[in-house]
Amino acid sequence: MEKIVSLCKRRGFVFQGSEIYGGLAGTFDWGHFGVALRNNIKQSWWKKFVDNRRDMYGMDAAILMNAKVWEATGHVANFADPLDGKQFNTMLKTEVGAKKEDIAVSYLRPETAQGMFVNFKNTVDAFHPKLPFGMAQIGKAFRNEIAPRDFLFRQREFEQMEIEYFVRPNDWEKYFEYWKSEMLEWMEEIGLDMGKVHELEVPDVDRAHYSKRTIDFEFDFPFGRKELFGLAYRTDFDLNTHKLEYIDEEGDPDAKVGAGKIVPHVIEPSMGVDRAVLSLLLSAYAEDSKDGEVRSYLKFKPNIAPVICAVSPLLKNKPELVEYANTKVYAPLKAEFGRVAWDDNGNIGKRYRRQDEIGTPWCIVIDFDTLNDDTVTVRDRDTGEQERVKVSELVKFIKEKI
Ligand code: GAP
Repeated sequence: MEKIVSLCKRRGFVFQGSEIYGGLAGTFDWGHFGVALRNNIKQSWWKKFVDNRRDMYGMDAAILMNAKVWEATGHVANFADPLDGKQFNTMLKTEVGAKKEDIAVSYLRPETAQGMFVNFKNTVDAFHPKLPFGMAQIGKAFRNEIAPRDFLFRQREFEQMEIEYFVRPNDWEKYFEYWKSEMLEWMEEIGLDMGKVHELEVPDVDRAHYSKRTIDFEFDFPFGRKELFGLAYRTDFDLNTHKLEYIDEEGDPDAKVGAGKIVPHVIEPSMGVDRAVLSLLLSAYAEDSKDGEVRSYLKFKPNIAPVICAVSPLLKNKPELVEYANTKVYAPLKAEFGRVAWDDNGNIGKRYRRQDEIGTPWCIVIDFDTLNDDTVTVRDRDTGEQERVKVSELVKFIKEKI
């Protein structure tokens, strides 16, 4: 864990929040490569669960919500942890409005979920979806955690990727199983070490007040086996709470229910971006010995790696190499993939180590042979092996592997 924390700072993934003023507990600031990693994780989630489906509606609701939302859901009364024998509400409270008579209490949302529930009617009216269908949202959530700790694991400001999937009451078990396997599939797709992922059936006493069944996907973190993501059956709790309903034109013949008004039930796969990042870093981190020295590297899958490839002129003081590398290799790769690094600092060995630590799958070196035969060296991060590839085929070479 210490190695990961230090690598994250040294290589520009994540920094302590407000560090030069002594920090602010439970907050982190993301650097260039950390943002890229987060974006790749979020894009992979959005592609799989929104873009590639026909039954999912995206949302981006406001973080500030009317306090009545949280009174209705029971969060004002129940969203609390024990502290000194009392219950401490962990919602972050703020005030909205300037003039005394206009000032209203508001809360920074502790989950993205409610931003979707309160827009259930808007979504149904705008898109006329047939059951089952879902709403999906990625966004920040805030909790005044009593003891933020374990690096990215427990923060006061974090990000969630949540789906509220609306089903006919009789179908909840089927879709609970379905979403369990979808979540596992995605975890594998982004490259989590699945040997460290475990399912925990959450017992009655530990479940949130709105849930009738919850599975926690736990991960073997260095500080113990802890919750990574959650899957909850929220019943009709939220829609009932907000007095929302749905006209089911088809009904449910299997349950002998005719067409008419119903309150759909909800299956909720909920994932934290920050815990996804932390478990991915822990899954990808590896060490081996190369050329008699220990090297550490991040074995990210190419679609998740912050940098897909790095371009290096062998010597930075040879204008013909730099010019070739810049115009004929870096520019076209950058236009194609975006996440391409230019690295001409230090000797080649140092550049490889640096890119290994960032998790860059391929390093491309432009040398004097390149000027004669238009080929470059492509070095593989995991094996250290090098091959010559024609410059004209570089884009294809990489595309075939991602
Ligand atoms: N809408 C349901 C909900 O919010 P939760 O289990 O409280 O359920 C869902 O949170 C996910 O959000 C967790 O599985 C975790 O990945 C992430 N999460 C929750 N609290 C967190 C915190 N303090 N810091 C980082 N991530 C957190």
